[in-house]
Amino acid sequence: QRIDKAGHRHFMAKEIAEQPVVLAEALSRYLRPDGSLTLPEPGLDFANLDRLVLIACGTGHYACHVAKYWFEQLAGLPVDIDVASEFRYREPPVPARSAALFLSQSGETADTLAALRYCKGKADRLVAVVNVTESSIARESDLVLPIHAGVEIGVASTKAFTCQLMVLACLALEAARARGRLTGSEDARLVAALRALPGLVHQALDIEPEAERIGRKLAEARDILFLGRGRMYPLALEGALKLKEISYIHAEAYASGELKHGPIALIDDSVPVIVLAPHDELFDKSVSNMQEVMARGGRVLLVSDRKGAEEAGTGVWEELAMPQVDPVWAPLLYAIPAQLLAYHTAVAKGTDVDQPRNLAKSVTVE
Ligand code: G6P
Repeated sequence: QRIDKAGHRHFMAKEIAEQPVVLAEALSRYLRPDGSLTLPEPGLDFANLDRLVLIACGTGHYACHVAKYWFEQLAGLPVDIDVASEFRYREPPVPARSAALFLSQSGETADTLAALRYCKGKADRLVAVVNVTESSIARESDLVLPIHAGVEIGVASTKAFTCQLMVLACLALEAARARGRLTGSEDARLVAALRALPGLVHQALDIEPEAERIGRKLAEARDILFLGRGRMYPLALEGALKLKEISYIHAEAYASGELKHGPIALIDDSVPVIVLAPHDELFDKSVSNMQEVMARGGRVLLVSDRKGAEEAGTGVWEELAMPQVDPVWAPLLYAIPAQLLAYHTAVAKGTDVDQPRNLAKSVTVE
């Protein structure tokens, strides 16, 4: 299979643009037209699980972090998350009636593979969520869940991240059903909202010209702060990671509620603060965090929907207007502005977007 940039300037741009198609593909592999979910054999008995352990490195770790909110809130299933390099040496107890899930685009990351081997004979089931199904992590697992993202070339992961989220969303939905946690109408709402996502991602890509314009401004910053709450906190972490990987600008992410416990000391008019805040149940709290930033001269870029922009009022430095989305699945949609801002900031700085310095696509040595 020959892979080219299909007219895009970088592989990363192509892979960002492909997301509506690959997400629809991933969803169709797990969610049947009648709304039932299909997992490859031997499946997962969520009703009899007491705990789920989610392990990954890099971007995959943030996908696990989002999934923790989904499994805990939708299915009432307690979840531990960790980066593989910490997990493997900590000698963590792996409780009975647990499944361990290893998330890896390449399926070859050395630390993640070592963490999987540590869990053999301890967890009831080893699950691999991978893009490369012939990989070591897939081979050594009991259950393999492909993410169907297609080959990803850009070192900074984009479509693999959102396809990982799509598979984890389906898995969380399956867990919620198996554990009897959803009413019929909640179930129908979540399914419809999941089906709407590829189309919403397509719509969200329309912010590109705005992201490009704002990216040129961000390129002048030395430090950038990302804030998010609840399910949007892991997206803030991913946004900061993406930005530092390819633009080499120092970026940090904080849970908005932690602002006053440290990062607020950094705020002045030289530090752009990117707030990822769809209009959800925590929106009012995000607005008061934003006001704390603005009161100290901070420049806020608000990434929200129309309702959010209306309620946030005036005073923000910049806004990116996102389509309305079901708050539960919003992390999947808000990956798009995180990716586009990082991409266009890096392009404005003239860095090597697809091959950033010192980074590798797959880290197969420790
Ligand atoms: C490297 C890549 C990242 C990736 C991480 C984990 O650091 O540059 O984009 O998230 O490895 O890779 P994996 O293949 O295990 O998902």
